[in-house]
Amino acid sequence: MKTKILVTGGLGYIGSHTVLELLCAGYEPVIADNLSNSRIGILDQIEMISGVRPAFHYIDLCNEGQLARLIADNEDIAGVIHFAAHKAVGESVAEPLKYYRNNFDSLLNILKVFEGRRLNLVFSSSCTVYGQPDELPVSEAAPVKKAESPYGNTKQVAEEMLQDIAAADSLKRIISLRYFNPVGAHASALIGELPSGVPQNLVPYVTQSAAGKRGPITVFGDDYDTPDGSCIRDYIHVVDLAAAHIAALKLLEKQEGTSNYDVFNIGTGTGYTVLELIRAFEENTGVKLNYHIGPRRAGDIVKVWGDVRKSTQQLGWQAKHGIAEMMRSAWAWEQYLQTNDIK
Ligand code: WQD
Repeated sequence: MKTKILVTGGLGYIGSHTVLELLCAGYEPVIADNLSNSRIGILDQIEMISGVRPAFHYIDLCNEGQLARLIADNEDIAGVIHFAAHKAVGESVAEPLKYYRNNFDSLLNILKVFEGRRLNLVFSSSCTVYGQPDELPVSEAAPVKKAESPYGNTKQVAEEMLQDIAAADSLKRIISLRYFNPVGAHASALIGELPSGVPQNLVPYVTQSAAGKRGPITVFGDDYDTPDGSCIRDYIHVVDLAAAHIAALKLLEKQEGTSNYDVFNIGTGTGYTVLELIRAFEENTGVKLNYHIGPRRAGDIVKVWGDVRKSTQQLGWQAKHGIAEMMRSAWAWEQYLQTNDIK
């Protein structure tokens, strides 16, 4: 009997890659998604890649009744990987209520419908909670700083809620994974990041510019205190990130240790500047990029990369893909979108 895992936001960028990793690891993923930031066609791609068409439920996690019915019909769900949330930093500043309502209600409904029952929960958190760390690489013991955006605040408060829930309810075993910067795509180039509108994140903008869909890339500032003046980030291949969720599930299943709440950094431990990433893209795809230096972007952290020793030592996980494969896979996905005229 396969262990059934509910994957909320399972047709999204990270969710779909995690569904594939769950299938490879012998789990039975059940997808819940309201398609607000994904496409039903991703389910066909998952089937094409894996030969399995996971159960899909078109539900809004903010609707407690819909979620309760799903859980009642799937009483053997042993774990939840919770991706479903709004995640655009800029949009969250303009529409904080939309972010607090959606990101908190969805998580609270999950906790409500599993009240009184055992649950292994893996929560999608973010390095955003660290703000600009005082020390680099930043470890899980670093202080959480005042969030720079309502989006970042939803991650911080969610982590605090989960800590309180775990402290009060020994039936819950919870891990928060603090992602650094997810990039790249599945080796099949059949799934990947599908930003709606003008990409806010660097790598999808780079690939769309390389494909001629966008104009030149604007590098948001080259006068920072970094080797070449542009910001530093810890980019992590989405397939490595997906694998970290399986490692977290397995740790929760072991029922080891006293604490039933923990936090792990999911990054490579290596930082790249924006200009180094642009160079890595050109070197690994053979595509020359057009870019220019523009003004700094408000709210940008200057430099952040993760101390990932705890994840390696306690999750038994570490990133396997380097920047070259991140760039190659991101470009292959963009070319797939172009060839198949997927907008
Ligand atoms: C990376 C770097 C930009 C676009 C995001 C999410 C955050 C978290 C981590 C989920 C920065 C620069 C970007 C462009 C540029 N994810 N840049 N030109 O800001 O680190 O954070 O990933 O939790 O929530 O927002 O990622 O890709 O937007 O920017 O120069 O056109 O690229 O200034 O230095 P960021 P990003």
